[in-house]
Amino acid sequence: MFQLTRSVTWQALERLCRETAKDRIHDYFAADPARFDKMSLRVGGLFLDYSKHLVSDAVLEKLLELADHSALVQRRAQMFSGDIINVTEDRPVLHTALRHLGDSPVFVDGEDVMPEIRRTREQIQRFSEAIRSGEWKGYSGKRIKDVVNIGIGGSDLGPNMACRALLKYRHPELSFHFVSNVDGTHIQKVLNGLDPETTLFIVSTKTFSTQETLLNAKTARRWFLDNAGEDADVGAHFVAASTNRKAAMAFGIREENVFEFWAWVGGRYSMWSSIGLPIALSIGFDGFMELLEGAHEMDEHFISAPFAENMPVLMALIGIWYINFQGAETQAIVPYDQALHQLPSFLQQLDMESNGKSVDIFGHPVDYKTGPIVWGQTGSNGQHAFFQLLHQGTRFVPIDFIASLKPEPGFEDHHFALLTNMLAQANAFMEGSQEGGQLDPYSCPGNRPSSTLLLDELTPKNLGALIALYEHKVFVQGVIWNINSFDQWGVQLGKRIAGEISERIDERTQDFDASTQGLLALVRQHFPGRDPARAADQAEAAKTAPEQGSPAKGGKAKRGKEQAQ
Ligand code: F6P
Repeated sequence: MFQLTRSVTWQALERLCRETAKDRIHDYFAADPARFDKMSLRVGGLFLDYSKHLVSDAVLEKLLELADHSALVQRRAQMFSGDIINVTEDRPVLHTALRHLGDSPVFVDGEDVMPEIRRTREQIQRFSEAIRSGEWKGYSGKRIKDVVNIGIGGSDLGPNMACRALLKYRHPELSFHFVSNVDGTHIQKVLNGLDPETTLFIVSTKTFSTQETLLNAKTARRWFLDNAGEDADVGAHFVAASTNRKAAMAFGIREENVFEFWAWVGGRYSMWSSIGLPIALSIGFDGFMELLEGAHEMDEHFISAPFAENMPVLMALIGIWYINFQGAETQAIVPYDQALHQLPSFLQQLDMESNGKSVDIFGHPVDYKTGPIVWGQTGSNGQHAFFQLLHQGTRFVPIDFIASLKPEPGFEDHHFALLTNMLAQANAFMEGSQEGGQLDPYSCPGNRPSSTLLLDELTPKNLGALIALYEHKVFVQGVIWNINSFDQWGVQLGKRIAGEISERIDERTQDFDASTQGLLALVRQHFPGRDPARAADQAEAAKTAPEQGSPAKGGKAKRGKEQAQ
């Protein structure tokens, strides 16, 4: 069996890690004036500067060898061609097909899926044009003014992030709201002040079985019926993006208003599908297609560029250098762009739900680190929150700075300050400040690496390319770590237990540990006479996903089969 850490290349990288332990990034620049030119790369409207990294020429060469010796070429071809690479759910991984703009077919189980993808795009186009033009009317004959997306995880984070990022392209008469948390204050805050006659709800859920989304959708429907229409009117105010047409229609959504997508689209990779409906409503179908075009161009780059000039591959390899050889536990994402303030949260799910794994694709425990903790916040705010630790703390945290170059008209001064702050911080992290040559409480050690990723402008096309870039970076790391980046059994376990606990709210159950029992006793006091049937109903909602996958291990509660999403 192939042992990654026993490979010659991996051991050469371990040796290089020891040999370069005292290197300073500053000295790499002093030794090679062409370093910036050599370690920067443009793909379409994106420019990546990866020169401020603790990566010597020899290290980069070995990292590229790691990619060459991996299954990357084969696995990449398998992904794009619809082979089953999500082995535990027995599924292809084809978010790339959603933005495939060529005429060539993409086969799943022998059937070309491109026609149905195009049909769904046409359905999205007709619907978004009807809503944006005012042709679509609510039950009382008024046009839609507010759109509420109800979803969580990938059914929220992608469209939420994109709508916020592209707010300047938003339809002037439409407002967008996102409800995700099961905490009632979330939907309550959103519904307050909305007019049911002019509000459209999009129930976004791949499985149509996620407890939080179903509860929020039922509350939204109750609010609508209590304040306005009748059952017959639900169809004019509720649509769904889901793979589960039957469940969506059972909820009261008209068949023609179910925007389907497919099991071979992972939730965290689904913003290119019907889950992206809020984006198309906000920026228009043409803008949505530009988003897909940007992602498609990044796909083409990822497929065709030599690894040494391949933006996702280079970002992935630098990350592996830090995670597996330099001891980095986290990756910071710091967009110097307030429009991208949701990007760290989106990338958190994309990366951590994909590569937060500890067994390889054969189910064997790995003996190396895998996905990092991804976190971040916009700059310049981060400078007044966590940059102190990054400058003078004891932890090693590589940073991705992300910004767009083009200023908003009338805010040139702001944008100049924003960008110069970002450049200053990246320089300061690298150079540090050694007052008097000795480390003292006033000094920063420096030698702290970062990438700088610049978008010419924050357009739909460049945003699409940016997101696809990170999708492929995560994919490359997963291939090199030989893990399945496309399942999420850890999440299913939590969903399962949530269902079991809510079922037992009235029982003096012995099925859980003493802590859970003790806490349940406290919770129970606030839910006197809670209807076990209702709890069972919610437990059922948490459990009713298509039967698949392996039973959960560990824990005392009697658990059924784990269920794929
Ligand atoms: O977090 C687990 C997960 O299954 C995600 O992968 C998914 O994006 C989210 O829950 C929501 O799932 P659904 O779209 O089926 O409601």
